[in-house]
Amino acid sequence: MELLETKFRKELTELVRSGMTGSRGSFALSVGKFISKVKTVDLELAKELSRFLTNQAILRGNDQFVAAPVDADSRMELVERTYPVVLSQLPVLPEEIKGELDDVLLEWASAEVLLQEGLAPARMLLFCGAPGVGKTLAAHWLAQQLDLPLLTLNLATVMSSFLGKTGNNIRAVFEHAAQAPCVLLLDEFDAIAKRRDDESDVGELKRLVNVLLQSLDEWPVNSLLIAATNHGDLLDPAVWRRFDHVLTFKKPDAALIARYLADVPMTDGARENLARLLQGESFSAIQQLLHAARKAALLGKVDFVQALVRLSVRLRLSRGDMAKPVEGEMLLMYLDGHSLREVGARFGKSHPTVGKIIKQYLGD
Ligand SMILES: Nc1ncnc2c1ncn2[C@@H]1O[C@H](COP(=O)(O)OP(=O)(O)OP(=O)(O)O)[C@@H](O)[C@H]1O
Ligand SMILES: [Mg+2]
Repeated sequence: MELLETKFRKELTELVRSGMTGSRGSFALSVGKFISKVKTVDLELAKELSRFLTNQAILRGNDQFVAAPVDADSRMELVERTYPVVLSQLPVLPEEIKGELDDVLLEWASAEVLLQEGLAPARMLLFCGAPGVGKTLAAHWLAQQLDLPLLTLNLATVMSSFLGKTGNNIRAVFEHAAQAPCVLLLDEFDAIAKRRDDESDVGELKRLVNVLLQSLDEWPVNSLLIAATNHGDLLDPAVWRRFDHVLTFKKPDAALIARYLADVPMTDGARENLARLLQGESFSAIQQLLHAARKAALLGKVDFVQALVRLSVRLRLSRGDMAKPVEGEMLLMYLDGHSLREVGARFGKSHPTVGKIIKQYLGD
């Protein structure tokens, strides 16, 4: 008894507290911490207790369906629930990002091992970066890989009522999400986590960030929170610090774009050329080009690859971003039905030179 009092007082108190008040996840973490303490004096007991700490038990949800919380004024739902998560396409990601996401999945797959040592898998991720480069898609992919329901914060509804009520809405969303294992996606996170020294609505904003900080601190270990923002620089530093991983999504480089275009039926050389041409565009902009080309091919009865290259060149010319705009002009003239000779005459080049340039874009 004396041993217990001196050695485990803190852990035991925490164990009972989280068992009585917290989520299954936080209870599991407390059990883990207790076990790692017990291990030092009673290995058998530690082993016995560890048997209860399985992934299955940790990730078991609240089986009852719980209705989503609603905004008090509009009665609109504050979160949208999706399960199972179906992806329109797999994310194409650079190695650093893919590696970090794989690490998170590994930690989740080994949650029991970590928890038995009193450690928790990564449970809060911050995705920063440009629009249209896969933040939301990557969050959906993680939810799919973890086979957990995805709860997406309905920001417009959460923020629609008076700012004073936004805090209540945020709290309601977190309480709802904490009831069972899930992935909670907070898109456009900067809207709620702006620095407290921001000039507008200082008092209310401060209160809002404080509510958020408290909610983040109580986030359970068996759910994953993903916040996404285009404006990482606007976030309150105290919010920033709470995330296990901060991932910065960048616009894709040519190699990544080429991977994204892998299914387009063109030669490798032409694909690489197109990828270089499109460098600086987001994936969502490139996806729009693919859609537009598909439609043009269908309705205008033109070749899909030609339509895609033509639209890409036009886009880059219109942005003033093309490295060799003359090549773009030549290609457009050729695709409009002019012969190599005609194009050459117009631009003061021999027709074999024009032919070589066209080949770079369209392949053989
Ligand atoms: N890395 C990617 N791999 C494949 N497709 C992508 C990728 N990034 C974006 N896309 C395409 O663009 C669409 C929009 O991407 P997504 O919503 O993930 O962007 P985002 O980074 O969340 O942008 P925002 O900051 O505007 O919310 C996706 O549905 C997908 O079709
Ligand atoms: Mg997004």
